[in-house]
Amino acid sequence: MPTPRVLFVCLGNICRSPLAEAAFRDAAKNAGVEVEVDSAGTADYHVGEAPDPRSIEEAQSHGIDISGYRGRQLTARDFHEFDFIFGMDRQNMANIARVDPGDGKAKTAMLLDIVPGQEGRELSDPWYGGEDNFKATWLDVKAGAEALVAILIDADA
Ligand code: 4NP
Repeated sequence: MPTPRVLFVCLGNICRSPLAEAAFRDAAKNAGVEVEVDSAGTADYHVGEAPDPRSIEEAQSHGIDISGYRGRQLTARDFHEFDFIFGMDRQNMANIARVDPGDGKAKTAMLLDIVPGQEGRELSDPWYGGEDNFKATWLDVKAGAEALVAILIDADA
């Protein structure tokens, strides 16, 4: 299988999608699956910025350093570069569809739609919440990451 290229997308690219990127890098590494991964925001509010300190801290509590990640905005080109683009909530999916050039290769889905039993559930924004919200975000993105690794392993079997 050619190395799958996966992009995680949220609104700001400082809370959910950097954690999804980190969780998926980690899950793929643990499974011995080679992947290329990035994350982006549909908005340009935090381009060039490091993740939210609460996201950095949450990742750090799992032994993962995301302090070097930098925010960027989703572009039409991403639909040609990536095989999969995962949004976190329905608003993300609507924003992603607006950027979709229509002739790319990326398959798009809401992340929890690939987690058995979680289909249709949005991965809500922890930005206005406290540390507990970031812990919940981690558990959700980890479930998504592990489900995706399982899908990639199945597809390669
Ligand atoms: P994210 O969270 O989409 O998970 O990165 C947000 C971060 C920043 C803002 C909104 C959501 N903001 O409005 O700046």
